[in-house]
Amino acid sequence: MSDILIEARNLSKEYIRGKQEVVMALNAIDLQIPRAKMVLVTGPSGSGKSTLLNVLSGLDMPTEGKVIYEDENIADWEEERLSKFRQENVGFIFQNWELIRTQTALENIECPLYPRKIKSKEIRMRAISLLKQVGLWDKVDNYPDELSGGEQQRIGIARALVGKPRIIFADEPTGNLDTDNAASIMRLLKSFTKRDTSILVVTHNEDLKRYADASHQLSNGRFV
Ligand SMILES: Nc1ncnc2c1ncn2[C@@H]1O[C@H](COP(=O)(O)OP(=O)(O)O)[C@@H](O)[C@H]1O
Ligand SMILES: [Mg+2]
Repeated sequence: MSDILIEARNLSKEYIRGKQEVVMALNAIDLQIPRAKMVLVTGPSGSGKSTLLNVLSGLDMPTEGKVIYEDENIADWEEERLSKFRQENVGFIFQNWELIRTQTALENIECPLYPRKIKSKEIRMRAISLLKQVGLWDKVDNYPDELSGGEQQRIGIARALVGKPRIIFADEPTGNLDTDNAASIMRLLKSFTKRDTSILVVTHNEDLKRYADASHQLSNGRFV
């Protein structure tokens, strides 16, 4: 078994802006994400970070290059297969948490499993276990508005993990948090690499490099 879970080879993504302007959001990117490691990609706003996550997770197609997952190029896959791939293997974490305001902490964690063929008892057990692992058992019945930013992001992490993903893609996961909360979120994320989950964090914040096993710097769609 290869040590590499997912790999970008010569990955480029062009957008057409307006009528003619071509934006090279990603330009010949090579990136390896090892199993059970946390990889960080830093870069200023507009450097291509979110585009990289979208293309690696199959939410968007590259203009050129490959995304290799288990010896297959997911850029060749049909949408149906990609969507199944994301559901079964990928967790997402966002800067703004994107929790559902009308659902409790526990229900927010369970959400991604509702469309799947998993018994409701099993779903509840997994959500409870994760709620405990992120240290929020006492908030089980609270709604997102009743939680602090750091607590909401912990729920976001638990929700990303509930499907037992092979990889988590995190887009500016600490962007709305103060330094202390950011540190504890990064340490929490890192702790899940010990359970064979790979994590790719993209951020403008260079200080987060210290938490990662490897880091790369994006500038105008290229690695520096
Ligand atoms: N859907 C789109 N259409 C046109 N241009 C886009 C689109 N998405 C992103 N871009 C452009 O691609 C570049 C990279 O964007 P993005 O990946 O969002 O950067 P970051 O996440 O680092 O801020 C930027 O110049 C942005 O304007
Ligand atoms: Mg972005």
